[in-house]
Amino acid sequence: MSDSYLIKGGKPLNGEVVLSGAKNVALKTIIAALMFKGDVTLENIPKINDVLDLIKLIKSLGAKAEFKEKNTLVINSDSLKSNLVELQYGSKIRVSFMLFAPLLRRFGECFVPNPGGCRIGARPIDRIINGLTALGIKVDYDSDTGYYHAKIINKPKGKYRFEKPSHTGTELLMMIGLMTNEKVEIDNIANEPEINDLILYLTSAGANIKEEGKKIIICKSPQLKQKEPFIIMSDRNELVTYATLAVASQGNVIIGPIKEDLIASFLEIMRVAGAGVEKIAKDKFRFFYQGKIKPVNIETSPHPGFMTDWQPSWAILMLAAKGESVIHERVFENRFSYVEELKKLGAKINFIDIKIENEEKFYHFNYEKNKKYQQTIRIQGGNELHNAILNISDLRAGAALACAALLVSDETVVNGASILERGYEDFVGKIRKLGGEIKKI
Ligand code: EPU
Repeated sequence: MSDSYLIKGGKPLNGEVVLSGAKNVALKTIIAALMFKGDVTLENIPKINDVLDLIKLIKSLGAKAEFKEKNTLVINSDSLKSNLVELQYGSKIRVSFMLFAPLLRRFGECFVPNPGGCRIGARPIDRIINGLTALGIKVDYDSDTGYYHAKIINKPKGKYRFEKPSHTGTELLMMIGLMTNEKVEIDNIANEPEINDLILYLTSAGANIKEEGKKIIICKSPQLKQKEPFIIMSDRNELVTYATLAVASQGNVIIGPIKEDLIASFLEIMRVAGAGVEKIAKDKFRFFYQGKIKPVNIETSPHPGFMTDWQPSWAILMLAAKGESVIHERVFENRFSYVEELKKLGAKINFIDIKIENEEKFYHFNYEKNKKYQQTIRIQGGNELHNAILNISDLRAGAALACAALLVSDETVVNGASILERGYEDFVGKIRKLGGEIKKI
């Protein structure tokens, strides 16, 4: 099967992109649907590889899931029969560990493999396992099989404070909290808008969840039952990919629907970089080239900061800016797999060391004192790029590489299309609609 793109770039991209539903909401609503009784209808679900893999996984557990219309998925888990996530399904998708919640609810115990997903750093789930334990779940790990065995001894209750916030950790513990007969409090939570969308989905089905700043409080909730279809929010990461590409290619692209507050930090920094940004409707923005792009340094951080998922796209915009810029990654270790690939195109990028006062506090991953990290790059933008053969090794890096190829006027081959398509719906179709030359080979 073809898993590469052949891209001939160098042209300004113009037109309109209609955003798909957010991957990082869709996956969680599908998993949480296994905690509901009866049919669950989810609208705006992107048909991306991660979603399709997750559907195979939940079907392997006995759930029913079917697309009724292009992006409307109906799930029914009344016939769920297995409490073991098979490795062939679980290893493909990072969020498979979130199945702890529905499987524990249904069976009282479950077997879940250590999660797969994008190789962007060690990505342990230690905080999440500590959280499960603090709420009263017994969790054992078998290093021979690579499986966690989780068991409910008593109904979850009590408090857990994340030492450092975790996005999927917050979501999983919140779902576990729904099994309480009393009260569960989770403190120092992550605040990404995608988490709020999941809360909206659960509370609209009866869940008793309250968010108070950096805390979530979950009280005894009735059996979840959907009253009306839930519509997934738009994908902010997809917007950033197309917006940076629009400006870097000296084009003009309208993107929506999206709520302004979800991308405020991105809009602000685009304006600082001299990009044209215009709100043309309540939920639509025009991104356009309006003359020289300025180099702007960024540092990633959790919401409301500049998201880690956006930094590979920012690197592409900075390649088109004249001068030096710095990207400092604080959330994940090893999120620069695109750097060596971009160098093949002639990009001038190098890793640099920046002195940080309290690294353990500053970085969101589990920082180890004597380990060598590469968290910062310096980009010398404004140089002509040439073609090459590029290899994708993680999702957001993949989107950045395909976008870089769209800035090169010769033909570039980008291998690993299926990794990019884990998170981008109809990437080829959307790029072609903007006038880009791209095909699968
Ligand atoms: N971490 C730990 N231990 C834990 C949990 C997290 O060390 O138990 C570390 C992580 O390795 C990372 C940092 O803490 O260095 C923050 O991780 P977090 O748990 O917040 O990230 P995540 O839940 O694994 C989600 C998204 C990511 C997105 C981040 C940040 C999903 C499925 N994934 O990951 O999205 O970058 O939050 O918002 O929701 C993507 O879409 O490409 C993607 C990677």
